Order: sequence, then C-alpha cells, then structure tokens
Amino acid sequence: MKHAFSKSHWGLGAILGALLTLFPSLPVLGSTAGLPGQVAPFVVMDERDVQAALSLAKVGRGDRLIDLGSGDGRIVIAAARRGAEALGIELDPSLVMKARSAAKEAGVEKRASFVEGDLFAQDLSGATVVTLYLFPDANLALRPKLLRELAPGARIVSNSFDLGAWAPDQHIRAASSGGLLLWIVPAQLGGQWCTASGERFQIEQVYQSVRLKEAPTSLGLSGPWEGRIRGLELFSKGPQGTLSGRLEGDQLILQAPGGGKVKATRC
Ligand SMILES: C[S@@+](CC[C@H](N)C(=O)[O-])C[C@H]1O[C@@H](n2cnc3c(N)ncnc32)[C@H](O)[C@@H]1O
Repeated sequence: MKHAFSKSHWGLGAILGALLTLFPSLPVLGSTAGLPGQVAPFVVMDERDVQAALSLAKVGRGDRLIDLGSGDGRIVIAAARRGAEALGIELDPSLVMKARSAAKEAGVEKRASFVEGDLFAQDLSGATVVTLYLFPDANLALRPKLLRELAPGARIVSNSFDLGAWAPDQHIRAASSGGLLLWIVPAQLGGQWCTASGERFQIEQVYQSVRLKEAPTSLGLSGPWEGRIRGLELFSKGPQGTLSGRLEGDQLILQAPGGGKVKATRC
C-alpha cells in the first residue's frame, strides 16, 4: 500500500502506517491483519481521543453517526451514549461480535448497531457525522464518496490522516495520535447564478474555498470576495467587509455587509 502522509499530521498513526508499510508482518491488535479488502488494521483508539473526536464533531442527540471501520465499536458506543443513532461498519466478524456485546453491556444496543461489511459499500446519505481512522490512501479513495453522499453541514472527523487537497476546517491535537481533523461538508455553490432582475454572478469553488469576482451589482459592492463555505453558509471577505450567503433549497441568499440582500438561482 502506498502512503502519502501529510507532513503536518505526523503522529502515532502516521508512524504506525509507515511501519506497517515497511514491515507488513508487524503485529497489530485484534485478528484483522491481512483480511481481503482491509484498508487499515485494527488499532485501539485512546478513549480520550474518542471523546475529543465526538466533541470536535459536536455529536449529540439527533445525530446519525457512521464509523467506517468500527473496530471494537468504541466510537459507536460512545456516540450512542451521547444520544446519537450510531452505526459501525467493520470487515472483521470477530470485531463486530465484540462490538455488539460491548454495546449490550453499555446498555446502548438500541442506538448502536454494527454491520459486517466493506466500508466502501456503505451508503452514507443520511449520516450527519462520519468518523475515520484509516490509512491515507483509503481516505483519498473515500473523498469523492463523502462529498457526493453526505449532505452539506455533515461533519467528518479523521484520526491522524487528512483528505489530501481537501483541507480540514479544524485540526486539534490528540492524546495519542497524529491529531484529530474535522471537515464540514460544503454546499456545492460553484457556477453561475442569476438574480430575479437578471443580474449574473459567478462563484468559483474548490472544496470549501470560494471566490466571487463580483457580487451582484444591485448590492452596490465591488469585489473580489474570497471566503469559505461552512455547510449551507458562505462567508467571504472583500474590500467592503463580509459578504455572507445561505443556500435555502435552490435559492442562494446573499447579504451585503450593510444588510442589503439579493436572492439568486442557478442559471
Ligand atoms: C484503526 S482501526 C479504527 C477502529 C475504530 N474506528 C476506532 O477508531 O476505534 C481501523 C478498522 O477498520 C477496519 N477496516 C479496514 N478496512 C475495512 C473495510 N474495507 N471495510 C470495513 N472495515 C475495514 C479494520 O478491520 C479496523 O478494525
């Protein structure tokens, strides 16, 4: 397996990855070494990092969390303890059994479930939070699926490894790994927009970064505007302050620093 570690996220996880590349026979926890389709071995996540990851994603009641490669189930069980509906996808049947009995022991089996299967086959639509502790190649392979299937505003937390060119919205230190990284899935706002009065403007988007050469002229502002999308919200700074926006259905509502608003749809 080829690894492309991001230099800024070196830590235990990255070191483990490098060691496993160099020494594939290195013992790993559990019985998972070498299962066909396995994109990361089972490594126990420090309980402090489990809690930190869930806090970073603000997991709570109303959330639907999926842990892709759920190991012994600790993230799923901790999320269920916080009131979320949580699902773990795990290739190794012995870990699935272990996780189910741990969920029962914790009294959260109604909200914590586990599926034995390949994480790449899991439909992610409907999840509000996805957690990952996989190798970099697996994260990269998952990136288009995450962007395609998750709704804007869904949170992704990865232990140690990044998503390549999609920079995280936040990166915090972890107790025992290369850090915890958070992404908020951005709405897709790139392209041409038109207001009801026929004004056109163009949004350039790369992941959550956006650029507007010009805002609609009726707002009386001059560009360019550079900023970010966070879920359904857009914030971009320009010479006259912050232009904010919000996607509501198929309408983009832009608000000028002075309070003026325009509504636009794709054209
Ligand atoms: C580093 S462990 C992470 C466990 C858990 N998410 C946690 O953080 O405590 C990675 C897990 O992914 C599982 N895994 C690897 N490839 C998989 C695949 N293709 N489908 C499902 N699970 C997989 C491994 O068996 C292992 O349990």
